[in-house]
Amino acid sequence: MQGEAETRVRAWVEYYRDIGVHDFYRRGEPAQQAASEAEAVTATPDAAVESGRPFVNETPSAPPIVETILVPPVKLISFNELAPVPQDAIPAAEREAALRAIQQEIGDCTRCPLAYAGRHKIVFGDGAATARLMFVGEGPGADEDAQGIPFVGKAGQLLNNMIGAMGLARAEVYIANIVKCRPPGNRVPEPAEANTCSQFLLRQIDVVRPEVVVALGATAATYLLGVKQSLSSLRGRWHGCRGAKLAVTYHPAFLLRDPRQKAEAWKDLQMVMRELGLTPPTPKKNA
Ligand code: URA
Repeated sequence: MQGEAETRVRAWVEYYRDIGVHDFYRRGEPAQQAASEAEAVTATPDAAVESGRPFVNETPSAPPIVETILVPPVKLISFNELAPVPQDAIPAAEREAALRAIQQEIGDCTRCPLAYAGRHKIVFGDGAATARLMFVGEGPGADEDAQGIPFVGKAGQLLNNMIGAMGLARAEVYIANIVKCRPPGNRVPEPAEANTCSQFLLRQIDVVRPEVVVALGATAATYLLGVKQSLSSLRGRWHGCRGAKLAVTYHPAFLLRDPRQKAEAWKDLQMVMRELGLTPPTPKKNA
């Protein structure tokens, strides 16, 4: 029977073969020897790819084996650079069907290692196919993985409140994530996972054609914009994403951990509201 670590490594091997990389590891070389040649990393194959250093797969039961990854570093590419923005928008009445077609194409996806990392449900997206406003998070957590719907856990409740404070209902916006499968332990998606999934999120954005996209947190901002910068340097100004204006704000899960930043997030949402001509709902008078 295959152990969990072995299954994961196999998934990575198959993933790289799928993208045309066949000759990427040397077997049987003692880890110590190779590690003395170059400083080795043991975290993940992706960390090795990013650093250009060898990946050491250490399993407790077997002597360490060195796998030298020869693939070029995974480059960050913005969603604007990935593919040209289609000139014509899909008619509003056809957008739901277009989203369903993307979902069908995803199927029971095994395109990246997250398929083998304990996923229960693929979390496609939720909301109006004609939304003017789209939120993009990082990846499903445990609640989303169980229900197959984005942002339904505690962070989702806060996101619902943020949407309500903007004078909108959740059903009026569209919500998706950088990756559609839960990363184990809620870790940040690896570049290879995000890049594999991006083709589908990109098409969802092109179908919905929101006027504004809000990137929730640094991971969403990094992958959508193809830049690795601090959240504070990206907030408070407009970026572009597939014909939409893109704003960056804090992830609701971060706001749950540090509620003092809610006022800052509200500034970001007010910038979005001004753009969309939204006014906050008037508070109900006490009877
Ligand atoms: N966090 C995310 O980034 N996305 C979800 O869907 C839930 C929590």
